[in-house]
Amino acid sequence: MPVIWYGHQVQLASDRPVQFDEPRGAVAALLLELDRRARATLHEQIFAGVRARILAGELAPGVRLPSSRRIADDLGVARATVVQAFEALAAEGYVVTRRASATRVAPELPAALQLLPRRGQRQSASAHPRTAPRLARVARVLAALPAGTPRLGAPPRAFRPGCPALDRFPVALWARLSARCHARASTALLDGGGDARGHRGLRDAIAAHVAATRGVHCSGEQVFITSGTQAAFDEILRLLVDPGDAVWIEDPGYLGARHAALGARARPVPVPVDADGLDVAAGIARAPRARAVVVAPSHQYPLGATMPLARRFALLRWAAAARALVIEDDYDSEFRHRGRPLAALYGLDEAGCVVYAGTFSKSLFPGLRIGFFVAPQGLVDAFAAARAALPPPAATLDQATLAAFLADGHFATHLRRMRATYRERGEALRAALAADCAGALDPLPCDTGMQLVAQLVLPAAITDRAVATHAAELGVEVGALSTYTLRRRMRGLVFGFGGVRPPQIRTGTRLLARALERSRRP
Ligand SMILES: Cc1ncc(COP(=O)(O)O)c(C=O)c1O
Repeated sequence: MPVIWYGHQVQLASDRPVQFDEPRGAVAALLLELDRRARATLHEQIFAGVRARILAGELAPGVRLPSSRRIADDLGVARATVVQAFEALAAEGYVVTRRASATRVAPELPAALQLLPRRGQRQSASAHPRTAPRLARVARVLAALPAGTPRLGAPPRAFRPGCPALDRFPVALWARLSARCHARASTALLDGGGDARGHRGLRDAIAAHVAATRGVHCSGEQVFITSGTQAAFDEILRLLVDPGDAVWIEDPGYLGARHAALGARARPVPVPVDADGLDVAAGIARAPRARAVVVAPSHQYPLGATMPLARRFALLRWAAAARALVIEDDYDSEFRHRGRPLAALYGLDEAGCVVYAGTFSKSLFPGLRIGFFVAPQGLVDAFAAARAALPPPAATLDQATLAAFLADGHFATHLRRMRATYRERGEALRAALAADCAGALDPLPCDTGMQLVAQLVLPAAITDRAVATHAAELGVEVGALSTYTLRRRMRGLVFGFGGVRPPQIRTGTRLLARALERSRRP
């Protein structure tokens, strides 16, 4: 209940005035409630209570407070306790005390304090249009980006794009390794490990892993731990582009690349993707002097193309001639369903213009928030110097746990299992789509990873966003392909099948068939 203090009376805003000669305790009870078992001392509680009422506007500027003796009597505390609280309030400018006169709420509170919302009143976005801090232009650009896939909340359900098989993650093993790392943690580890690039053991383990599996031959010196791919893009572009510089972005492509380019104040240049991945010739025609390109050559997101060797060399030739940086997003190529994946672009680069970015969001679980990039030798010092000015990338003990997971061989075992799981789930999705959605959806080939794109073959007036919305209403999450595009006009649905067991896959496609049917209705 709002309380207003007048000289000798306290008045509830919508109630009767309360006189100072009210029964013992009544006045102070309006003002304060003390908890004698709380950890805060009594004078701290009085301080906090009065301050809260001033900030909420319940005690107006200039209002006279009862004497410290009266409050002390009412609350049953020593007068010195109240005096101590009043002194602290006066020191911070909330009240003014003058010798031989009453203590009053300060007549002029700092403007910032007056802007605070009153108790129970929510701040609205437009509450202070003339006083709210001005946003940079980039904020408007980011706010205008299309919303991605509608998320129906945790736990992830069919067919959330990008979600790995969390049901198959070896949680108990991870917990054991984590407990071991905690139990044996040295003071150096507790202190943060001392290296801004990340935990040394993890960087060495990653270097060994990417050399063996992806042809990325590097030392732990070149590996920088990040909190994921998106963070890697942010950090790399911060160092490589100036405001307004062109950055090639795959169209359609991973939204995180576009967001990072915009965040770096760069100019994302959409470059179309075809069955061989990023169209290098189109990129050269559109922005020959771009400073960087973000590309997923091993498994383009979301269409799934693998870039053939000839185009990889064309990309590298252009980058070397333009002195541009190629940011290789190798987010899920470990999960080629059959055969060996093509080695990474990084291994073909002789000019030192490729940064290789990897993540454990797909291979383990997204909540881990650990990824990395491998810098070419010539850029290691620049990245290391810049890293010193950035916040540490991830919790050191999680990095140590992950290092043990890799070094003890669990990661290789997990990848093997997941490869089989994704093959099985991908095939189950294909079969289920053929059974339930043939005639409305035409799936593209899919031999890697945990997502599949199907083109919409319904009348042109039916948008993929409308279908995704109808699907969401029935409890099915699918991405609308058009939300991944910049300039291209494409209609389709993006399915994540990694986190969905085969029986749920079939339930999902049956519901989706109903959503497609709803979309056909005028
Ligand atoms: C193409 C692509 N790259 C990378 C990532 C991983 O991002 P992060 O490591 O920030 O979780 C994703 C996640 O969805 C992705 O779709």
